[in-house]
Amino acid sequence: MGLMAGTGMLRAWGAPMHMAMPRKSSGLCRHDIADQTAVPRLLDPSRLTPFVDPLPLPPSLRASHGEVLRIAMRETTQRLHRDLPPTRLWTYGGSFPGPTIEARSGSALKVEWISHLPAKHFLPIDHHVCGAEADIPEVRSVVHVHGARVPASADGYPTDWFVPGQSRRQDYPNGQDAATLWYHDHTMGIERLNLYAGMLGMYLLRDEHEASLGLPAGEFEWPLMLSDRLLTEDGQLYYPVSGVSDAPWVPEVFGNVMLVNGAVLPKLDVRARRYRFRVLNAANGRFFRLSLRGQRPFLQIGSDQGLLSSPVTQTSLFLAPGERADLVVDFANLAGSQVELMNDSLPLMRFDIAAAKEDDVSRVPAVLRDVPRVAESTANMTRVLSIDEYSDCVAEPMLMLLDGKRWQDPVSEKPRLGSTEIWSLVNLTGDTHPIHLHLVRFQILDRRPFDVNAYLESKTLRYTGPAQPPPTHEAGWKDTAQVYPGMVTRYIITFDGYTGRYVWHCHLLEHASNEMMRPFEVLA
Ligand code: C2O
Ligand code: CU
Repeated sequence: MGLMAGTGMLRAWGAPMHMAMPRKSSGLCRHDIADQTAVPRLLDPSRLTPFVDPLPLPPSLRASHGEVLRIAMRETTQRLHRDLPPTRLWTYGGSFPGPTIEARSGSALKVEWISHLPAKHFLPIDHHVCGAEADIPEVRSVVHVHGARVPASADGYPTDWFVPGQSRRQDYPNGQDAATLWYHDHTMGIERLNLYAGMLGMYLLRDEHEASLGLPAGEFEWPLMLSDRLLTEDGQLYYPVSGVSDAPWVPEVFGNVMLVNGAVLPKLDVRARRYRFRVLNAANGRFFRLSLRGQRPFLQIGSDQGLLSSPVTQTSLFLAPGERADLVVDFANLAGSQVELMNDSLPLMRFDIAAAKEDDVSRVPAVLRDVPRVAESTANMTRVLSIDEYSDCVAEPMLMLLDGKRWQDPVSEKPRLGSTEIWSLVNLTGDTHPIHLHLVRFQILDRRPFDVNAYLESKTLRYTGPAQPPPTHEAGWKDTAQVYPGMVTRYIITFDGYTGRYVWHCHLLEHASNEMMRPFEVLA
């Protein structure tokens, strides 16, 4: 079976989940060798008083012409809520989230990333995971700017890590349209732990066109970085483990607290006018279903790679890890009251609106920019790529792969520079995976339901319904999209910018850290 090819170093993974395997037929099952690692006492979040802490605003960093920004990674402690003791975190620049980098389209930015992290990790590394073996340093870092169009050497390739005491200079040309980008760790095998520890921040790229629109700006524009964490009773991060002492990797992590800009249940005092919110789902594995209490409408003006063609009125929004949404909320009719930002039926934060009437001169034009649809006929080729999950215990998916290939299998996706391709992502699993490509922006062509069993048996695609074009809020430029179970999701992608080796992966970080990530190479 192809699955084992080219690895040799890891566990003997069994057959694909879907090839009905007799239970335990392939030797060790995690359940057989589980030891009872004690789970610490977890925090009861209901004991935290809601809406007492102000929403944190990470410091913003901009570079004057030619200057190199120096950003140090360091361990720190930070109070995530008034009623909690300070939490140990790893950060960029000493805060979680890290400083917001302010950049301008067409104006290059240089950053020196410096690691002052300790020599030992404080979260559980799985040395069986590819790239995190016991003979390589525990604490490693490499920084990726998610959504940035940069030369391969500046992209933060997962194996291009460095250790405490070292630094790495990365130059970002910013040769792309304004967008809500973000930076985070991308270290092979442990990015799930490094991000969980706090290593992420926003990177706002602005341009003249966007500035000409008159959108709410300055103090009326806020980043909202959403995440979740498991906190212990004494307010410390807990990262769950499988129960197998030498193989602690777990396929997903969900927290008992939700954080906005690193705070649990914060509040923001706002004026009775429009605000722009740059929303990022920075969680390891949680999808957020956002709404304003009472299903109050808001406008979505942008997605991952910048503005939509026109604003879309929304009452709720489902955001996967890695995705961004650019929103405008008008508080004018809520003067003197309060409204909560919700995730499903639970509040994430509260807006307290001032009573005074405002003279709001900001605007949201009906046309934001031209986003021409990329025609299917412009594609030079189509690749059919499966999203698979494998297990050596029938009940427990243990490995999610892209097109059945391991990280170390030869590079198979080699688009030509300037070519346009359709990637047909055939999801054979029961879950939505947010699939992200580095370097490029793409459009979603459509999603179409198909017969999964027929595909597993004979690799033939038998559609069971019509193709569904993306809804308007997903019809802009994307870099991460939700690939639904039981559907073929088609991306249309032009590989322009640079040649070289990049990665594409699932943005559920537990998946990405365990080989749901593959290289691709743009050829000259
Ligand atoms: Cu947000 Cu490859 O990353
Ligand atoms: Cu995944």
